[in-house]
Amino acid sequence: MRIGILTVSDRASRGVYEDLSGPAIRACLSEMLACEWKPHYLVIPDEQDQIEATLKAMCDDEGCCLVVTTGGTGPARRDVTPEATEAVCQKLLPGFGELMRAVSLKSVPTAILSRQTAGIRGNSLIVNLPGKPAAIRECLLAVMPAIPYCIDLIGGPRLETNEAVVKAFRPAK
Ligand code: MTE
Repeated sequence: MRIGILTVSDRASRGVYEDLSGPAIRACLSEMLACEWKPHYLVIPDEQDQIEATLKAMCDDEGCCLVVTTGGTGPARRDVTPEATEAVCQKLLPGFGELMRAVSLKSVPTAILSRQTAGIRGNSLIVNLPGKPAAIRECLLAVMPAIPYCIDLIGGPRLETNEAVVKAFRPAK
């Protein structure tokens, strides 16, 4: 099972600072998932064309059933991760962004500045997280219960979670 981890940041991609958010996603997924998985991790600048091309490659060529992005969700001129996500997805899942903003709002009033979203491309689920490392665990914990069932519904592999950390919810048929 492959999972894409995509850090979108001009400065991290130029090496101005070390990317902390991508490794934080990797650590959170290791903690939350009980199945074997392999990360496909990249750091790229806030360029919409490049984000779209990378999301497509992770979903279509690398076969990632889940792609988690971090960064570029805010209102600044260079923030275009949600636009790139919307452009490559056949279906959007606005509930992901709504829930993550609601949860994040309990910690920071600026959570409303994040335009993070999620959507489906083929057999892959793409989820945007904000760029702040502190946001990663908070947001992933909130949406993880629904991710395994979402991936079931789009024909992906069966994800199992570590129930001591977060319990996947699969509705009874
Ligand atoms: N969500 C959480 N949980 N924690 C945070 O610190 N920062 C907010 C928001 N969401 C934040 C958060 C801020 S300050 C901004 S500008 C937006 O996410 C967008 O961040 P991004 O452009 O790095 O994606």
